[in-house]
Amino acid sequence: MEVKVAILADNISGMPPFKAEHGLSVWLEVDGRSFLWDVGQSDVALHNANILGIDLRAVEGIGLSHGHLDHAGGLAPMLYACGPKKIYTHPVAWAPRYMVFGDVKRFAGIPLRKDACETMCSGIEMSRGPVEVMPDVWLTGEVPRVTDFEGPEPMLFIEKDGELVPDPFDDDQALVVKRPDGCVVLTGCAHSGLVNILKHVADAYGPVKAVCGGTHLGMGAPVSKVEATMDFLEEILPDRMIINHCTGSIVMSRMLDRFGERFIPGTTGMMLPL
Ligand SMILES: [Fe+2]
Ligand SMILES: [Fe+2]
Repeated sequence: MEVKVAILADNISGMPPFKAEHGLSVWLEVDGRSFLWDVGQSDVALHNANILGIDLRAVEGIGLSHGHLDHAGGLAPMLYACGPKKIYTHPVAWAPRYMVFGDVKRFAGIPLRKDACETMCSGIEMSRGPVEVMPDVWLTGEVPRVTDFEGPEPMLFIEKDGELVPDPFDDDQALVVKRPDGCVVLTGCAHSGLVNILKHVADAYGPVKAVCGGTHLGMGAPVSKVEATMDFLEEILPDRMIINHCTGSIVMSRMLDRFGERFIPGTTGMMLPL
């Protein structure tokens, strides 16, 4: 089974003319069939796909890791460019989300209304559980929380019954390619916890061979969480870790030191087999 990814949107840019933004979008190809994992915040993914010569009209669907602006803000330009595609989300992905800094509240959810999106796509499939989107390609649905060091994050809120409450990120999910030699895992922001995600994938789909995506180990991540995550990665030791998006530069550099050639700092414009 041949698996290839291309990073279309990410916080760090490859060499010009690739562009960067705070966001994530990954194009996935499995045995010649393609799928889109998140769409970034704007039309940056389109720009970068064009440079890479990727035909977005050929993708068989679009999966959203969760309902945040930086992963789903590009839905409207993407659907105009690639034509009506099926969109896969958790139902909670469409709830209003906010970042709150003291008295300041900023919208952080999907800017395209769900009813407007329905007029542009070929259907929205919402599921709390796993969904197979192409042969042996799964969206995990909800990720069980089993670690004691990965939990809710300050500043991130969701609107429930008209009230803002800390966001439990019930919608945060991963994409898994179930390959005979082990799984390829794509994460979004990993709000449910990278270790929770990888433990769930190992339990439900098999050993993890490669990981690509965000970790939510940014500059403010507790050192204990960073250490525990790296210890777990060392335990399962995937062959490839392409880490990007919401991962701080210090954590990236520590991972590079610890995992050597298994670790690849992701940038836009990167296209490689996994
Ligand atoms: Fe997020
Ligand atoms: Fe994110």
